[in-house]
Amino acid sequence: MSLKEKYSEEVNAIFAKYENKRSAVMPLLYLAQREGGYVTKESMAEIAEMLEIETTEVASIVGFYSLYHDEKAGKYRMQVCADLPCALRGADKFLESLCQNLGVKVGETTSDGLVTVESVMCLAGCDKAPMFQLQEGDRVTYHENMTVDRTMELVEALKAAGKEVK
Ligand code: FES
Repeated sequence: MSLKEKYSEEVNAIFAKYENKRSAVMPLLYLAQREGGYVTKESMAEIAEMLEIETTEVASIVGFYSLYHDEKAGKYRMQVCADLPCALRGADKFLESLCQNLGVKVGETTSDGLVTVESVMCLAGCDKAPMFQLQEGDRVTYHENMTVDRTMELVEALKAAGKEVK
């Protein structure tokens, strides 16, 4: 079912807010992502059609912002900044070692479906690397000056039902 069919009221309300309909791209993407945690190719094509822009433009926006996704992931997305300033503070080694501990490669999800590890560009915490943002649906928390040990403790805490992310 299309976004327009499924969420007609919300789509109309979004368009009512903007004089220039291209400006509706962000809230439409947010709407498209809400259910499954990522934006499907079909939704990108539909959004492009609604906004009268190319699907590749919509896809490039999804690709640019770390809070939008074009693929399914685990319950949590652990997005480690491995951009140059963070790499200089050891973020690349941190990411490598973290992946080893979790038994995944960058972009993969742990076998229990809990955590997907991603490498992203600057998250504006350059002086606090290694750092990552942790996404669970709409919820985003930031974890700075991290070590692999502390991150694994965090993962263990996430595994425990009902535990909040600190
Ligand atoms: S370069 Fe990593 S937070 Fe800025």
